[in-house]
Amino acid sequence: MAILFDSTSRLFTLKTNHSMYQMKADRYGVLLHTWFGMKSSAFDYSYRISYADRGFSGNPYDAEDDRTYSLDVLPQEFPTYGSGDYRSTALKIRYPDGTSACELRYLKHEINEGKYSLPGLPAIYADSADTLSDTLIITLEDTRHMFYVHLYYGVMEGLDIITRAVCVENHSEADIYIENIQSACIDYLHGNFDLHTFYGRHVKERNYQRAPLTHGIQSIGSTRGTSSHQYNPFLILSDRDTTEDHGNCYGFSLLYSGDFLGSAELDQYDQTRLLLGIHPDNFCFCIKPQERFYAPETAMAYSCHGLGELSRIFHRTYRSHLCRGKWTNERRPVLLNAWEGVYFDFDGKKLVQMAKDAANLGVELFVMDDGWFGKRDLDVSGLGDWIVNEEKLGCSLLELSDAIHDLGLQFGIWFEPEGINEDSNLYRTHPDWVLKVPGKSPTRSRLQLLLDFSREDVRDYIFTHICKVLDSARIEYLKWDLNRSLADLYSAALPAERQGEVMHRYVLGLYDMLEKLIQRYPDMLIEGCSGGGGRFDAGMLYYTPQIWCSDDTDAIERLSIQYGTSFGYPVSTMGSHVSHCPNEQTGRIAPLHTRATVAMSGTFGYELDVNKISEEEKEIVKSQIIEFRKYYSLIQYGNYYRLTNPDQTTAYHGWEFVAADGSEALLCLVALQIHPNGPGYWMRLKGLKEDSVYVIDGREYPGDVLMNGGLLLPQATEEYQSFRIHIIEKSNF
Ligand code: DGJ
Repeated sequence: MAILFDSTSRLFTLKTNHSMYQMKADRYGVLLHTWFGMKSSAFDYSYRISYADRGFSGNPYDAEDDRTYSLDVLPQEFPTYGSGDYRSTALKIRYPDGTSACELRYLKHEINEGKYSLPGLPAIYADSADTLSDTLIITLEDTRHMFYVHLYYGVMEGLDIITRAVCVENHSEADIYIENIQSACIDYLHGNFDLHTFYGRHVKERNYQRAPLTHGIQSIGSTRGTSSHQYNPFLILSDRDTTEDHGNCYGFSLLYSGDFLGSAELDQYDQTRLLLGIHPDNFCFCIKPQERFYAPETAMAYSCHGLGELSRIFHRTYRSHLCRGKWTNERRPVLLNAWEGVYFDFDGKKLVQMAKDAANLGVELFVMDDGWFGKRDLDVSGLGDWIVNEEKLGCSLLELSDAIHDLGLQFGIWFEPEGINEDSNLYRTHPDWVLKVPGKSPTRSRLQLLLDFSREDVRDYIFTHICKVLDSARIEYLKWDLNRSLADLYSAALPAERQGEVMHRYVLGLYDMLEKLIQRYPDMLIEGCSGGGGRFDAGMLYYTPQIWCSDDTDAIERLSIQYGTSFGYPVSTMGSHVSHCPNEQTGRIAPLHTRATVAMSGTFGYELDVNKISEEEKEIVKSQIIEFRKYYSLIQYGNYYRLTNPDQTTAYHGWEFVAADGSEALLCLVALQIHPNGPGYWMRLKGLKEDSVYVIDGREYPGDVLMNGGLLLPQATEEYQSFRIHIIEKSNF
């Protein structure tokens, strides 16, 4: 059992293969957090807490005249608002009498075999012997006896992952309101941490940022209704001297696709509190008597071997215990998406010609992007009218998909189910179905509005129409896009006192529809997208095993975007394509080889008009697809190593995939600058077997030498030249 309970000291110790997490219900029933980090014996770590009489840090009444016991200082598992803990807290309730001061005390717990799941929300799952997992549910009771808080813990021993989720259960006769609920709170007794976050904007997502924690609250978050391009719901705390390969670090990932808040507070005693959960700004949820509310799951991992190992823990977990269904393990098709090749300017004939050209190169799936439905020749109209525009295509969707299948290709199609244009039949018929505040003009973005996905009737209508399209033709792939942030949160279906639920209900509605879709089309490959990576989060990955990483397809820009993304997410989830040069977004010219090197470190595909590339380039593309198939398992299932940071490197940026058994590796390099008569460069490899001999281009090197002395890199002779270097263990050669 990975969960130990000592009934005398009321100590809970959760152990994975390499980490340990500990809590203790103390003498007053307060659930203290005593440890998260390196695994050791299940000793009671509460010995590390110092008690002292501290001015202006009050004492709970149960502590009687003990002035050294203060919630303002103690490390707690689920601190609440209003009862003497003045730091940021994990729960704020509005009681029926309008007050908010809340105290929780330990009531009971249960330990179950297997990993819990959450109704209507994504959750990491365990379905095989390699993922021994157990669940602990600790129930805390509100001292006014109005509600329970059930704290869920999933311990995935072999994966080195611990998950948390929270459920609030109303057991009073009146409505109570949750004004803030954070899924995870981790209190550390020390504070000399660095905080690592991922910020960005449209076409420049998930830039890596590392900064020392300072006194006060440092936070990231989203109030856009999506996890957003701007910040990602994944953050890391580390020791100051932690590197890629050494040192302590802790990763926190929220499985949620809406508003979120991640904060780290360095308090008056140099202690740190990390909180991660739904952003409270657009949130106030009513729980009726006997009802339960579930807050989303947070996945947590600890590594004492630096950031690289921390990422690999998340990669392994998300690849095969978050992504679900057929595409978890099956090789995904190499696709060609028509978007950057033709945008809205196509008809059926043009698409079939594109598909024909693509098939000749070895592409396996052809994707028709935006523009095939309603009145949609630009991005200003038609959204919401999911009816095939046969006039534009010049044929039915079945005829088009048949023609594409006749070429030996699978067929995929784009939808933006949540979006609606005012210039659409749907809007003209149901103007009340959009997110729009009565008496106020709505905020437009890309000249579109959003459907109220918190409403089941609205979702049902869209679902029915999408299914009609999907059932009318042979379709194996669906791209689910969303091209704006939420605003004007108001649902015509909710009373005034429940309008604070719209954002969360919208996300639950999104999950509900995605779940229905994957239940109905279990073999369909669904790719998530929100103007690129505006909803690239672990919540979406539960439904869509890959997500379009960014609308920026420039290979050199993508180095930073994919580098940042790799901290929390595996390459098998990163939609990445080779596009035209000069690049549509930046005008940059990068060699075709380099564009493929970068796209191969993702799901791999093309996004161009094959007609517009030279015969010589076509031959190169053919060989790239063959090469990708050869390396597929190594890239998608191998261990990923960041070798350099592209934003701090001026010479070569490098990363590496290593087979789980160390028998082979693929080193990817991009020369960022070129100098005539330049110096020599070496790259230290990682993850190889020290005592094995490896062959590179016919030359033998011991594994330990490659990892210490490094590999002498080839001289780049062209700007942004890249290299893919296969490294094979001699015994497998
Ligand atoms: C944004 C996506 O990220 C693009 O790939 C493309 O699908 C467009 N939307 C279509 O409108």
